[in-house]
Amino acid sequence: MDFQKSILEIRQRNIIMIGIGALIAFFVALVWPFTPSIEQPIQYNHQKHIQAGLECSTCHTLYENSAFAGLPQLDTCSTCHQEPLTESREEAKLLALIQQAKPLEWKQINRVPDHVYFSHRTHTVDREIGCATCHGPMEERTSPPTKPFFKWTMDACINCHEQRSATVDCNGCHR
Ligand code: HEC
Ligand code: HEC
Ligand code: HEC
Ligand code: HEC
Ligand code: HEC
Repeated sequence: MDFQKSILEIRQRNIIMIGIGALIAFFVALVWPFTPSIEQPIQYNHQKHIQAGLECSTCHTLYENSAFAGLPQLDTCSTCHQEPLTESREEAKLLALIQQAKPLEWKQINRVPDHVYFSHRTHTVDREIGCATCHGPMEERTSPPTKPFFKWTMDACINCHEQRSATVDCNGCHR
């Protein structure tokens, strides 16, 4: 009798363990695809700011004069965000960072290696290539991108250079 009872207990325990395991697996499967692989300090929303009438250059202040576009720091945000404009928790986070004078540590998504030269100024100002050609519709983004619109392989650069008779000389890009 006792023997059978303990078998029954073990079975029940096993069923509970399997149940817990399945539950964990279910939640992992549910959450996994939505977990961004890259954590940004604020879940910044491009769409809301473009709809509010802001220009790309308000926050990406460098591209008109330099190789880099630039990622904005708190002094840019705080020109508008001093008092809460919304009830967003992300904005509350931003206001707390502004109060503590902490830097905004954005993780850069688009990147070329150090041995490659790329200039925003030449492409966007001199050649008037729109941001969307290379970055897609950023004005529609409601959260930070977790991967670049184009994977910046050598072919990605050269394909366009061939189409637009730009340099395909090795030293053109590797300097
Ligand atoms: C020129 C003014 C201006 C600047 C500069 C600005 N914002 Fe905003 N921001 C707004 C306005 C206006 C809203 C409200 C938009 C709405 O509710 O439709 C807003 C809303 C927000 C919100 C809450 C809305 C949401 O759902 O995300 C966050 C968070 C935010 N901004 C972050 C930032 C950050 C980070 C910066 C700096 C990189 C920044 N803002 C720079 C004007 C600005
Ligand atoms: C011809 C393609 C191309 C165009 C057009 C372009 N970008 Fe970029 N962008 C890139 C590449 C490539 C990188 C990675 C560069 C690096 O690692 O230095 C990048 C990086 C960035 C970055 C992050 C690094 C940085 O430079 O601060 C921002 C922000 C950015 N681009 C914004 C813009 C904006 C805004 C425009 C339009 C005014 C624009 N880009 C137009 C290709 C482009
Ligand atoms: C109010 C400020 C603001 C404005 C206006 C703004 N951006 Fe941004 N942008 C940011 C912030 C903050 C980030 C970093 C967080 C993110 O990726 O959402 C960013 C990131 C980006 C990146 C990715 C950079 C990387 O890490 O490689 C691109 C590309 C970009 N913006 C393009 C644009 C373009 C194109 C416009 C105009 C249509 C624009 N942005 C307008 C604040 C702004
Ligand atoms: C959508 C098209 C396009 C893409 C994508 C593109 N380029 Fe260009 N690039 C051009 C054009 C057009 C010129 C100007 C050609 C001229 O004036 O002779 C140019 C010029 C250049 C130059 C010479 C001018 C300068 O800035 O010194 C370099 C270097 C360069 N590109 C690097 C790159 C790299 C690296 C990539 C990829 C990360 C890239 N380009 C992606 C279109 C593009
Ligand atoms: C239009 C710009 C451009 C031109 C022209 C160009 N490259 Fe590249 N090259 C790149 C970029 C961007 C990368 C980085 C690719 C990556 O990170 O996946 C790269 C990477 C490389 C690498 C590193 C290995 C690799 O595959 O990542 C080598 C080696 C290289 N290039 C050699 C050359 C040679 C040789 C030429 C001339 C025949 C040349 N490149 C012309 C843009 C260019």
